[in-house]
Amino acid sequence: MEIAETAPEPRESRIALPNVEFAAAAEALRDRWKDTDDSMCRHSMSFHLHHSLRSEFFASYLYLIKEIPMVKLFPVTCEFIKGEKQFYYRAQQFYEDVPPSEEGMMGDFVEICHVDLEGSREFLKRFVGPGKADTHCALDCGCGIGRVSKGVLLPVFEKMEMADMMEHFLLHAHEEYLGEDADRIETYYCYSLQEFTPPKKKYDVIWMQWVACHLTDKDLTNFLFRCKKSLRPNGVIIMKENMARQGCKLDPIDSSISRHLDIMKCIIARAGLEILDIEKQEGFPDVIMPVWMIAMQ
Ligand SMILES: C[S@@+](CC[C@H](N)C(=O)[O-])C[C@H]1O[C@@H](n2cnc3c(N)ncnc32)[C@H](O)[C@@H]1O
Repeated sequence: MEIAETAPEPRESRIALPNVEFAAAAEALRDRWKDTDDSMCRHSMSFHLHHSLRSEFFASYLYLIKEIPMVKLFPVTCEFIKGEKQFYYRAQQFYEDVPPSEEGMMGDFVEICHVDLEGSREFLKRFVGPGKADTHCALDCGCGIGRVSKGVLLPVFEKMEMADMMEHFLLHAHEEYLGEDADRIETYYCYSLQEFTPPKKKYDVIWMQWVACHLTDKDLTNFLFRCKKSLRPNGVIIMKENMARQGCKLDPIDSSISRHLDIMKCIIARAGLEILDIEKQEGFPDVIMPVWMIAMQ
């Protein structure tokens, strides 16, 4: 346990020592305070600090972890091992083994692909057209092999750009999946969204489907903020995402977090975006977590 960094210099300890025998020990330990450990603590007044940190602070911390999903998420999404943020590292490992196919993009639910695309096309229509977003250029974020690009965006926009962290998905999109439409993809960005800054004032629509769940709250807020700057006049960001029925739910297999709609709304507001419209995707089986579409600018 690292208490040495934050513990005060043991000046008070020396004054309060009940037994002079310990004074010398405490004095000797003072210079080595940074290396404080269990046995050293046992010989100084800091033992009391150590003890109360252990028994009271950690008891409260464990209570918070158990009771409050947001607190539980913090250690999970912020864990670093050998300089790697594990939340992102695990997602990267997961997608390395995912085949570049519609089945791969949809997990165990490829049968809902058609309903999903139909729902998206209908939702998109509301924001594109005269007096609304133009049809010049769209960006598909976390595009995978381009399932949404092909089924929703390419039929509407003159040209497109796509971003995903996995190179094998982008290659498959370009070489096979998009067919001749691949000629209208201006740029493929092989980036993790948390490190990606889209070009300024470029897109009429930015689509994010089933990828917001792969970003931490902070990174998602910052990414949405950057997306806002890359919209053209009347441009919109459309997020389509699983929303937890309660609190936040972590899936340790693909390293994703599903958030309750209210939590997502807070993130959107923090990114300085205004929600234009919001709708639940209908027609999915009940076993699937509710999926919502949110348009914002
Ligand atoms: C469930 S798939 C969805 C793909 C596509 N949006 C669709 O609906 O078919 C999630 C995609 O997000 C990508 N992804 C996950 N985490 C990402 C990150 N941090 N940055 C960029 N892409 C990420 C994965 O590589 C994968 O292609």
